[in-house]
Amino acid sequence: MTGTSVALELRPFEPGRDFPGAVDLISDTNAHDAGQDWYPTVESLMMEWAVRPGFDPARDAVVVEDEGRIVAGGTMDWRERAGRIIHSSTIWVLPEWRRRGLGRRILAWLEARARASLLDGTGGPPELPHVLNAGIETSNIASAAFAAGAGYAPVRYGFQMRRPLDLPIPDVPMPAGLEVRPVEPAQIRAIWEADSEAFQDHFEPRAPTEAEFERFTADPDCDISLWLVAWDGDEVAGSVLNGIYPHENAATGIEMGWLDHVSVRRQWRGRGLAKALIVRSLALLRERGMEMAVLGVDAENPTGALQVYEGFGFRPYRRWATLRKPF
Ligand SMILES: CC(C)(COP(=O)(O)OP(=O)(O)OC[C@H]1O[C@@H](n2cnc3c(N)ncnc32)[C@H](O)[C@@H]1OP(=O)(O)O)[C@@H](O)C(=O)NCCC(=O)NCCS
Repeated sequence: MTGTSVALELRPFEPGRDFPGAVDLISDTNAHDAGQDWYPTVESLMMEWAVRPGFDPARDAVVVEDEGRIVAGGTMDWRERAGRIIHSSTIWVLPEWRRRGLGRRILAWLEARARASLLDGTGGPPELPHVLNAGIETSNIASAAFAAGAGYAPVRYGFQMRRPLDLPIPDVPMPAGLEVRPVEPAQIRAIWEADSEAFQDHFEPRAPTEAEFERFTADPDCDISLWLVAWDGDEVAGSVLNGIYPHENAATGIEMGWLDHVSVRRQWRGRGLAKALIVRSLALLRERGMEMAVLGVDAENPTGALQVYEGFGFRPYRRWATLRKPF
């Protein structure tokens, strides 16, 4: 069927009935494409696609249905990053429906939606520069060819790294004067603010807005007993926010524990704090029954994070590209 275009219609996503179909679409597509570990549940997708200024599924998501089954779809959302508005598209086409023009039609719908959002006031501050964005796993030939054909070019690369937890975990002492204490819910805000501040040195850091904080705390899998936070008195010096996603682990068959955020505030850098928190994270994830530690890192991280992870036995196993296209 390759090359045969199809007459199926695109229609807006309907939040009242389409979540289960979208979960199946995303899971079935990701199971087929190496490099995608996202297997949402209806509950987690509803959280991920909760209405916020930059995204409303009824407005910014599109699906293609065939005999009651969602066979393709996509989303467009925007975020403010480093003084620019980044409009990001994501597209899923079931393997048996590929090469029939659905991806191209969905992308045209999403780009038109982003342009319309600038005119109708739902697309973020119009005075800031706006850009179109997509992310691909670089070994995925279909998405790389598709995105290049649509005019998207890479601007930045990142790695996903992993490290088996049955390898020995080295001993690294906590720097003098700092201590790790169990996290209490009342401290979440301060920990998030410290993490946001430390990430200002990162590529296109997130803006520390209320909306971002709400998103951060809404994750149903968020488990603060996995967070390792180093305190200097009552100040956060640095943290590793670890996460375990049982649904994804069940789908991939690998017990993975994520070092989701590793951050040390500037004032406490250069004393070995990140290393001390990383080895404690490895031990904690192993105690919780995980077999593999995983993390994502920007390939050009100016603080040398990649080398630190390599030193602890993490190795890149996936390479992500951030792609951009002028508005
Ligand atoms: C990438 C993806 C969305 C493409 O969907 P699709 O419906 O097959 O794409 P289209 O049929 O509209 O293809 C448009 C063009 O992309 C290119 N393309 C798509 N798949 C390709 C492949 N496997 N090899 C080479 N070129 C490819 C071709 O130029 C194609 O035009 P042509 O068929 O006239 O030659 C689909 O493969 C997919 O869902 N992949 C997994 C999810 C993903 O990576 N999404 C992010 C994309 S930015």
